Amino acid sequence: MSDKIYIFDTTLRDGEQSPGASMNMQEKFRLAQQLVKLNVDVIEAGFPVASVGDFECVKNIADHLRDVQVAGLARCNKKDIDTAWQALKGGANPRIHTFLATSDIHLKHKLKMTREQMLELAVSSVRQAAGYTSNVEFSAEDASRSELDFVCRVFEEVIKAGATTLNFPDTTGYALPEEFGAKIRYLIEHVRNIDRVILSVHCHNDLGLAVANSLAAVTSGARQVECTINGLGERAGNTAMEEVVMAIRTRADAMRVHTDVVTEHIHASSRLVTTITGIQVQPNKAIVGGNAFAHESGIHQDGMLKERTTYEIMNPCDIGLSKGNLVLGKHSGRHAIKARIETLGYSLSDEDLNRFFVRFKAVADVKKEMFDEDLEAIMMDEILRIPEAYRLLSLGVMSGSGTLPVAAVKMLVNDREVEGSSLGVGPIDAAFRVIAELTKTRSKLLYFAVSSITGGTDAQGDVMVRIEDDGKVVVGQGADPDIITAAAKAYLNGLNRLIYLKDETRKAKKRRKKTIVDG
Ligand code: KIV
Ligand code: ZN
Repeated sequence: MSDKIYIFDTTLRDGEQSPGASMNMQEKFRLAQQLVKLNVDVIEAGFPVASVGDFECVKNIADHLRDVQVAGLARCNKKDIDTAWQALKGGANPRIHTFLATSDIHLKHKLKMTREQMLELAVSSVRQAAGYTSNVEFSAEDASRSELDFVCRVFEEVIKAGATTLNFPDTTGYALPEEFGAKIRYLIEHVRNIDRVILSVHCHNDLGLAVANSLAAVTSGARQVECTINGLGERAGNTAMEEVVMAIRTRADAMRVHTDVVTEHIHASSRLVTTITGIQVQPNKAIVGGNAFAHESGIHQDGMLKERTTYEIMNPCDIGLSKGNLVLGKHSGRHAIKARIETLGYSLSDEDLNRFFVRFKAVADVKKEMFDEDLEAIMMDEILRIPEAYRLLSLGVMSGSGTLPVAAVKMLVNDREVEGSSLGVGPIDAAFRVIAELTKTRSKLLYFAVSSITGGTDAQGDVMVRIEDDGKVVVGQGADPDIITAAAKAYLNGLNRLIYLKDETRKAKKRRKKTIVDG
């Protein structure tokens, strides 16, 4: 049997550090459940000390998902490690992941520490974490730009202090594959007792090399890869999980290792991350891009018709892509719809399924063919919706060349019906102005994007907005066959999410305070 590569998913922690990718507690839990289905080995659920919201998310995931290791991040200091443990301790397989930079650049400019001080702090922090659990990961932040012999020394000492996984991050995405692989080999040859721990890598994608560097590390002996779905993450992102996993599977002949990921759930997981964060995957992205299995040229299509493997190195079914995703229409029954949404990775209660069904019929009435993307849009709009302080009842717009656009909106504000109208530069501007007036909000629109969910002029419009209020940034989404209505729904969804976020934070703070008082 080939060696196993442990998959450490950090979509909920490093992935969430992508600008605009914040997720609420319900969404994080939903995504964590999907990661369990994917069968990843470790879920890094968050950074407990960062906020009460993060603390609660980590605790919720650790307490409820018992068949996976759940990690919480902590800097090398007493409070971070204590807080991480408080969040993790109810879990079945908790891991404390503590980190401290080893590079001279970080030591001098950020930490203002000598190497000796760093070493001492790393050792005492790992020892503290090991006092709580036997599952401790230590990361040497900016390891790829650190003096390698110093990293070796730190690794040797933290092994003695109780670390069980040692992570060598390419924090700035600076490394080149051959060089990175050589560093991993060097560590294996020079760190005493390294065979007693798992050697891990965590690569960022600043030069577009995160996956290549991770694979080079695996070839050299690393046995854990830290990664995110869709390559989400700080700046240019992290190693894309789907790419690493499929490279290992497709080229098992050369890699001679395996992962335990159930690759058939990759497509649904990627879609779920897009649906939740609103961050689209580029069409030509490997594995999960819209064009990843599309064959455009005549020569390729001809080859494919004769034999699929002429131009396909992976079977789309292996990532859970069904052949042609046209599935349902207005005559489809509940069973067919339920089966399809389960294939997409969702399991709904009877009550949610009823709501989904009603909405499905309404959309299918105006749109003949329902694709997977339509079902996902309904899922986001109807089921994953957070409590709504604001709800659109009706929207009318008048616009056209040579006329000043005007919008009239009727909506519910905390269950009270209100209405108003406004002029605007365009119909969307007019609609947003009325909504801002009726909700008495002053959020700033940072980003607006409209796309069609599927092809065809009857396709649903999908609008994504990013709005900011009081330093908090959220994504709002809305889908409707009418794009102005989709835009209004997206805007209201964003405003509802802002309220929800503030409410969640307030409640979490209260609960945390109570826990501390109650001991
Ligand atoms: O990029 C990095 O170095 C990190 C560490 C916390 C592992 O995210
Ligand atoms: Zn990182």
